[in-house]
Amino acid sequence: MPRIAYVNGRYTVHADAAVHIEDRGYQFADGVYEVCEIARGHIIDSTRHLERLDRSLRELKIASPMARQPLLTVMREVIRRNMVENGLVYLQVTRGVAPRDHAFPANTKPSLVVTAKRIDPAGGNKRAESGIKVITVAENRWERVDIKSVGLLPNVLAKQQAKEAGAQEAWFVDPDGTVKEGASTNAWIITKDGVLVTRPADSGILRGVTRTTVLDIIKKHGLSVEERPFTVEEAYDAREAFITSATTLVTPVVTINDRSIANGHPGSIASSLRQAFFDIAEKMKA
Ligand code: PDD
Repeated sequence: MPRIAYVNGRYTVHADAAVHIEDRGYQFADGVYEVCEIARGHIIDSTRHLERLDRSLRELKIASPMARQPLLTVMREVIRRNMVENGLVYLQVTRGVAPRDHAFPANTKPSLVVTAKRIDPAGGNKRAESGIKVITVAENRWERVDIKSVGLLPNVLAKQQAKEAGAQEAWFVDPDGTVKEGASTNAWIITKDGVLVTRPADSGILRGVTRTTVLDIIKKHGLSVEERPFTVEEAYDAREAFITSATTLVTPVVTINDRSIANGHPGSIASSLRQAFFDIAEKMKA
């Protein structure tokens, strides 16, 4: 059975799915995207993802390609046609196709692409059991990283640098030494006193949906949390570190720049947050 993609109103064979060469996403990275986890055939946290999509579109003054409910229907249909039980659904909206000119085109319909991919959850679970390695890189992105734009070149370069260093994620660090977030994940530490620390979402990071859900879990479990910037030095000295995203969920970090965090094994709090996320995700499926 071939993979199926949704492109501008049509379900097409994934291998043949295409947008025009003058799509502004292709020429200017003039578009936004969302990635949602699919667990046991359901989209996790779809409301928060679609709210963030609307916000990204509003910030860039790109028209919404369709209302939320029909969009959810398309996402579910792509998942169904690809028989995805566990994996991801990806959606991308660009300002559309128009002759190349930097300023916004008039009367252009936004382009909408939705794809879904199967992922064996065993891979992510294995990575969470061993923990991942992180490197740090200098922040070199634009200031509006709160918008989930498809303009991801610094993130691509940082992730490649991590890969070449034998690591799985790169944390962007500001000139003041504070950690922003990963190339495709949010960054967290747990201090020796057991306080969970993550950067406030209004200060130069993407407001991760997984981050928000993990904050809910933390508060529900009565753990202490501080939303404040933390430095790389503080991270080296932390009891635990971990990352969050729709693709990694909660995944422990065991080294930063080759320095072991605590005893170099995944921490117990991060591991139990990962478990709690699975439990809560069950209640948030759409
Ligand atoms: N990335 N920060 C950045 C820069 C991201 O790209 C992402 C998500 C996150 C975590 O957000 P969420 O919890 O909503 O997934 C934080 C997706 C998964 C990606 O680009 O593939």
